[in-house]
Amino acid sequence: MKPVEIKKGVYWVGGVDWTLRNFHGYLTQRGSTYNAYLVIDEKITLIDGVKHYLTDELLERISHIIDPAKIDYLVCNHVEMDHSGAIPKIIELNPKVKVFASPNGVKGLKAHYKADWDFHAVNTGESLSLGKRSLSFVLTQMLHWPDNMVSYMPEEKILFSNDAFGQHIASHERFDDEYPQNIIMEESKKYYANIVMPYGTMVSKALKTLGGLEIDIIAPSHGIMWRENIPGILAEYSKWCKNESEKSALIIYDTMWDSTHKMATAISRAFENKGIPFDMVSLQHTHISDVITKVLTAKYICVGSPTLNNNILPTVAGFLAYFKGLAPKNRVGLAFGSYGWGGQSVGIVHKDLESCKFDMLEPIKFMWVPGEDDLKAITEKVESQL
Ligand code: FEO
Repeated sequence: MKPVEIKKGVYWVGGVDWTLRNFHGYLTQRGSTYNAYLVIDEKITLIDGVKHYLTDELLERISHIIDPAKIDYLVCNHVEMDHSGAIPKIIELNPKVKVFASPNGVKGLKAHYKADWDFHAVNTGESLSLGKRSLSFVLTQMLHWPDNMVSYMPEEKILFSNDAFGQHIASHERFDDEYPQNIIMEESKKYYANIVMPYGTMVSKALKTLGGLEIDIIAPSHGIMWRENIPGILAEYSKWCKNESEKSALIIYDTMWDSTHKMATAISRAFENKGIPFDMVSLQHTHISDVITKVLTAKYICVGSPTLNNNILPTVAGFLAYFKGLAPKNRVGLAFGSYGWGGQSVGIVHKDLESCKFDMLEPIKFMWVPGEDDLKAITEKVESQL
């Protein structure tokens, strides 16, 4: 397992998690990487680490370049354990390692590892000399934890962006000009939607701060590094952080006896008639983390559930809990569903979407099984509001 030199004396030494398929509830169908970077200078510096179970892989890559016990500095851009899990081992090999992190990062590392390491808290605007090169720090709080920061190496024009601009992709290739661009963008979109979406305001602030930097490489802590399409990913982040959606609709539903499914289809006809592109997903067949990727760019969010035990279906409840936590904004909502007697589901879904401060269309309920004329009426009712 070899390192990859990304600029003279700067190496990717991370770990590839080929079999990862679930990252705390986010389906990672392509696996992931935890990217760590080694800088050979007067001070041997490791930037970020890997998940604990890939520590040996990290050490093997470092050993191709230098004895890991010779690491002087460790820069921890983010405490979350997919990046900090290997730190205890690095410290064990050389207890004199100086650990640099944001003030919240130092707090977090102490709490996570009950550690008394040689900590140094750094702030935005501070710089650390490694010898011929240096690292400038920018705190990026809540992008996506309170401790997050990024490190910029001006001499090599590398931005070590940690979770920002990352994607969950396990691959042999390291750079965006070596891997299909459409897949990187789709995985970046999924990553943003599922991890970063609630923090759009902070992303916008960070983009302004980083905007003036000359960047040859964006080196995130997951997936592929950017060196070809840096303008492309910055443009997408700048669009996503403003909650700018396209004029398109997403119809999300689950069904018991097909009536809510029929209603979903009738609703899709309304969008079709108005020339508005739509997508339709059944929560029985599509994972919520993939649905959220579609949410990122859809203007109309239509959610349907039949009534079950005076409530909504558990699949829809799970989706709505996840959806509300990720806090999409500036959307138009529509609740719909069929029922047999109580009919509470549509009211519950409507209230949930309304709580996101969406503009709401008139909800649509139908008792028992809609026939052709009923479905036509549903289409017309939705169409009249678009
Ligand atoms: Fe990749 Fe927030 O950890």
